[in-house]
Amino acid sequence: MTREHYLTAQQARDFYNRMGKRQDWQRFYEGRAIDELLRHGMFDRAAAVFELGCGTGALAEELLRHYLPPQASYVGVDISPVMVELSRQRLTPFGERARVFESEEAFEFSRYATHCDRFVSVYVLDLLSPEAIHQVLDQAYALLNHQGKLCLITLTEGSTPLSWAIISLWRGVRCISPGLVGGCRPLRIPLYLSRERWQIEFDQTVSAAGVPSEIVLASKKLIAQD
Ligand SMILES: C[S@@+](CC[C@H](N)C(=O)[O-])C[C@H]1O[C@@H](n2cnc3c(N)ncnc32)[C@H](O)[C@@H]1O
Repeated sequence: MTREHYLTAQQARDFYNRMGKRQDWQRFYEGRAIDELLRHGMFDRAAAVFELGCGTGALAEELLRHYLPPQASYVGVDISPVMVELSRQRLTPFGERARVFESEEAFEFSRYATHCDRFVSVYVLDLLSPEAIHQVLDQAYALLNHQGKLCLITLTEGSTPLSWAIISLWRGVRCISPGLVGGCRPLRIPLYLSRERWQIEFDQTVSAAGVPSEIVLASKKLIAQD
């Protein structure tokens, strides 16, 4: 069995510092999945959004401009200072409603926000190790209000001949050097969601330009100690 390699936090920071604004070029395959997330995330009922790995702030701008109620607030974090600066510039028109922080390697979201009712992360979990994904989900569970929703998109497994071929190629490239594909790998996010904690409300795979993405919306279930 081949051993999976993941980018270290420093490698991810360096990669996305170099990527900068060019991250938005990925919209050719990300856009369709993001549209589905926006359509089904009930953002018009959200008062506080937290985003892990906000990149250039493109999704935050769309949420604040078109989907969230006027009083709703947004907090984004990213490990790359270049991305944080790009997001801050982009979100300047929203003033105090939008705040963006450079995050540390450790996932401690309570440093940046006390609660949220949408926890969003788009094409980020697919570059983290399984242990890191579990840490993120634990932190998301702690941060979300009782009616809160997890709103995730990841690269996923191919489900058509074209997407299957593209994902096989992607895997081959990643095997040679994870950095060539930004560390991302196909992931089935429902496999990481414990049934005690999360109720999956929406799970759909869409392909754009042959690249498959999985959109998962899950609401937080209350467990005994909550
Ligand atoms: C593939 S990009 C996606 C950016 C944005 N969500 C989008 O869809 O355009 C991954 C983003 O996650 C950030 N990132 C990677 N590892 C991270 C970590 N451990 N903590 C916070 N952000 C991270 C990167 O700096 C980058 O901005």
